[in-house]
Amino acid sequence: MTTKVALLGFGIVGKGTYRALTQNAAEIERKTGKRIEVARILEKNPAVIESGLAPKELFTQDFESILADPEIKIVAEIIGGTEPATTFMLRALKAGKHVVTPNKAVIAANYDMFRRTAAENGVQIRYEASVGGAIPVIETIRKSLVANRITKIQGIVNGTTNYILTKMEEEGLPYETALKQAQANGFAEQDPTADVEGIDSANKLSILIAECFGVYIHPRDIDRTGITQITRDDLRLATQHSCKLKLLASAEFKEDGSVEAFVRPTEVSSESPLAAVRNEFNGILISCNMADKIFLSGRGAGMDPTGSAMAADIISLA
Ligand code: HSE
Repeated sequence: MTTKVALLGFGIVGKGTYRALTQNAAEIERKTGKRIEVARILEKNPAVIESGLAPKELFTQDFESILADPEIKIVAEIIGGTEPATTFMLRALKAGKHVVTPNKAVIAANYDMFRRTAAENGVQIRYEASVGGAIPVIETIRKSLVANRITKIQGIVNGTTNYILTKMEEEGLPYETALKQAQANGFAEQDPTADVEGIDSANKLSILIAECFGVYIHPRDIDRTGITQITRDDLRLATQHSCKLKLLASAEFKEDGSVEAFVRPTEVSSESPLAAVRNEFNGILISCNMADKIFLSGRGAGMDPTGSAMAADIISLA
């Protein structure tokens, strides 16, 4: 059986999603019996359309034609930013199409609204790729740990800042040089302020809090400090304390039902698995009342890792 998908946007994650679905099509069909067909790609940049990375006839600039096509069952929003991404996702859900996205800013800001709209229209919104890149953290929380009460979640959830801190510490690179490298590698947001000021981590933490504790906290209400003031001396000092300095996102569910959450540069003990998370990798440590501690790590940003998570959600929906 073939399921038709439309990709909205063909930037870094769009290309990764397309690659995962096409180059691994035989593997996907062997495992699931499903064929996923990328039927349309919404993209207006001529250089991207002419790039040869996908057949030219797949490209369109007409969102309405995607919405009106009853054969397209899944829409992957990979445009980024707030608008038109939010409007396109809501319209797709209301048109009875499942939506998959890596857009953590939009999901975190409208978590309840998206889930409610999806439920009202008998479809699903999936966003595994929005947190931790390739790491299947939402799947783990929802399925593998479903029999647990999760008490705490701590993670390095931004690849760009972890890359910068690693390069500053290990290679003595200046902050600006390391940031430029992270941008050149396709890890950073369009405006890297969201990465370095901890906004991206707060968005991801807001989603993790909702998934783990069933409590919604808007990202702006999460206590947040970024890495812009961090110096190589701070990193050296952490090493002297047998620690690594990491931009940590942390949330703990308290006995009284409140959630204590923050994003801030934190000295993490060298004995913690989080200390070993380097470069653009992410790591997430989940504490639960039955399984005890679960640690997940993997590539937190970049074309193929994020494409892998996007494709998994698409295949699961199919
Ligand atoms: N800018 C993000 C990061 C991309 O560096 O982690 C992946 O969400």
